[in-house]
Amino acid sequence: MKNFTLSALSLALSAVGASVFAQAPAPVDPSAFVNQFESTFGKFEGYRRSGAKGICAMGEFVGTADARALSTASAFSGNAVPVIVRFSVGGANPKAPDNAKSQRNLALQFNLPGGEQWLMGNISAPVFGAATPQQFLALLASRQPDPATKAPDPAKVKAFNDANLEVLLQGKHFASQPVPASFGSVNYWGVHAFAFVNAKGEKQFGKWIFEPVGGLQGLNDEEAKAKGPSFLFDDLRQRVKEGKVAFNFNLELAQAGDKIDNATVPLPEGRKKVNLGTLKVTSVSEDAAGACLTINFNPLVLPKGVEPSSDPMIAARAAPYAVSLGRRLSEGAKQQ
Ligand code: HEM
Repeated sequence: MKNFTLSALSLALSAVGASVFAQAPAPVDPSAFVNQFESTFGKFEGYRRSGAKGICAMGEFVGTADARALSTASAFSGNAVPVIVRFSVGGANPKAPDNAKSQRNLALQFNLPGGEQWLMGNISAPVFGAATPQQFLALLASRQPDPATKAPDPAKVKAFNDANLEVLLQGKHFASQPVPASFGSVNYWGVHAFAFVNAKGEKQFGKWIFEPVGGLQGLNDEEAKAKGPSFLFDDLRQRVKEGKVAFNFNLELAQAGDKIDNATVPLPEGRKKVNLGTLKVTSVSEDAAGACLTINFNPLVLPKGVEPSSDPMIAARAAPYAVSLGRRLSEGAKQQ
């Protein structure tokens, strides 16, 4: 009887274990994530493991009445809020070329009244390259250079892609777009859904985009070649001096039934878009230094009135960002 009870209990427990596992796969160890970034993209000491080539700037944000109707966040008060801005080129290489059809990033720290902060890192694609942290880690591993050829193993890459078609969507977006003419002339998407909570406690989920007030501007292949690998920082300084770098912070509103837990799936076309306010970049660091050095743009640092959705990638970013920050600072931080 005792044996029966024990084995029944262990069966029941393993069933519970299996179902818990099916719903929530084991979390990825944050150091393993950063190790995999280094193995796949190379280790550049002192630099961010992602978005290594960047520049710090300052700006201000003014929110709209439409934003205040959606969220109590103090960022939307209508008063100018100071924002620390970091623009970067995607990847771990601090010498990544500016004239390639690759990712650009817009990372922000809103410094709100009372010491509250809102941190975010946005990318120049409407989707991310993986839906879950487990899939992202496996994607990076599939691209790890083979020690013999020093290049990713095409068979491994193909096998992974064939089994995970959504990881190709982001690359398809970049291939379909021109090389951005400027950090200030490309759209930046948040890719995750967040909830906006108003004074009545009503929650509206949405995905945001920062769209340049002056419109999009790209380079054709000839222009990109002529610009060379390093023009974005000077271009930014010039445009900011002319007062030309500003973005509309827009929110696409999710409707019931829309997928809001997956960064590889944009909201359906034509969802209502609300302008939450305008971010204006007012100055750029004179050299590569600036206030950005110790900020890691952890997307879980949110103001009261904005909450994360159930997208598992949001929380999965927090700890690896902290690991990367710890490594780069202790290695002798480089100012990019
Ligand atoms: C679990 C998934 C992810 C991991 C492990 C990861 C890892 C990292 C790491 C290690 C950094 C450097 C942090 C630092 O040293 O301060 C970083 C920066 C960044 N990540 Fe991610 N990332 C993930 C998902 C995403 C997603 C979904 C986005 C899409 C919006 C994104 C956008 C960015 C941006 C924009 C930066 C640069 C921020 C800056 O200028 O410092 N990441 N990421």
